[in-house]
Amino acid sequence: MTAKSNPNSGLPRTLVTGGSGFIGSHLTERLLSAGREVVVVDNLSTGRRSNLPETHDRLTVIEQDLADVVSDLGESNQLGAFDEIYHLAAAVGVKLVMERPAEAIETNVSLTADLLTASLRSGKGGAPSRVLVASSSEVYGKGVGEVFSEEDDVVYGPTTVTRWSYAASKALDEHLALAHHSQSALPAVIVRFFNTVGPRQIGKYGMVLPRFVEAALAGDPLTVFGDGTQSRCFCDVRDVVGVLPELMSRDACAGRVFNVGSDQPITINELAEAVIAATGSSSKIEHTPYSAAYPRGFEDLKRRRPDLTRLRDAVGFEARVPLEKTIADLAEAIQSGSVA
Ligand SMILES: NC(=O)c1ccc[n+]([C@@H]2O[C@H](COP(=O)([O-])OP(=O)(O)OC[C@H]3O[C@@H](n4cnc5c(N)ncnc54)[C@H](O)[C@@H]3O)[C@@H](O)[C@H]2O)c1
Repeated sequence: MTAKSNPNSGLPRTLVTGGSGFIGSHLTERLLSAGREVVVVDNLSTGRRSNLPETHDRLTVIEQDLADVVSDLGESNQLGAFDEIYHLAAAVGVKLVMERPAEAIETNVSLTADLLTASLRSGKGGAPSRVLVASSSEVYGKGVGEVFSEEDDVVYGPTTVTRWSYAASKALDEHLALAHHSQSALPAVIVRFFNTVGPRQIGKYGMVLPRFVEAALAGDPLTVFGDGTQSRCFCDVRDVVGVLPELMSRDACAGRVFNVGSDQPITINELAEAVIAATGSSSKIEHTPYSAAYPRGFEDLKRRRPDLTRLRDAVGFEARVPLEKTIADLAEAIQSGSVA
């Protein structure tokens, strides 16, 4: 373990778990620009070391499983004390979860349990660190309304349908964080990310936008599952990471859950058309049944749109980056070889 950063520098210290991943690397850059000292722990299971600067005097990257270093957090331990912990490490993506469900559940639940327990004493003087836990819009399950609000009931299918295990594991993470907040005053805030997109996202774990952009650039057909009338709201990762330090720093946000994303829906057919237009591709759109791509038991949702009232009231959030720019920047990153 290389610990280049100095726990005694006096600078605010931040741990980002999963910091070599898509969202984590953008967040790490944002925190470094804000003058913080950042330690990233990432086992590179879906992340890439090249997402982060090769060298930076306030960045330490530990390429290890979080489970192996979680006991090293805290003032008298190897990694030192942290003012803040952004917990983003997880088994991510419906495709990965469908293919390796047991591993995904174990990663998402026990890793978060251990991290939250450690964070109770990982701040300065053995105090708790502030913690932000990355959850997901998947927690809503099938949802109960047109728009998903944080206090809504959640509706899942039966446990025999693998898809719901990701939702259940993230819901358990939320329960754990809220329980530590009420039992031990852990300053923990939970964010439910809706579809987050942008440069560095990769298509191989089933994420729709990079999959479409890669196909459009190659002149291959863009494969839409189902009839393509299902809709989602896509938010640029640079908008998403801008709001996270705001939520982390406010005492009033601790012990609460926030939707984070865009509330502008687009159908998957429209998304495919937008990608073809933005890349000037001659690719065609093809429709295929879900059963061709996912194991038995897959269920998709017709729509998923967040209510952002709570987020706007708390931190005044507005998404700024238009989808066309996100697509163009992702295409440029793929063409330049920075996304493989
Ligand atoms: N991207 C989205 O649209 C989206 C939507 C909902 C929720 N989320 C959540 O946001 C977080 C970040 O997701 P992302 O899209 O950046 O995905 P990602 O796969 O790029 O990031 C996850 C990172 O965690 C790392 N990781 C996984 N297991 C680990 C372990 N045991 N120890 C150390 N590192 C480990 C991976 O290598 C990867 O770098 C995740 O918690 C995910 O569930 C993302």
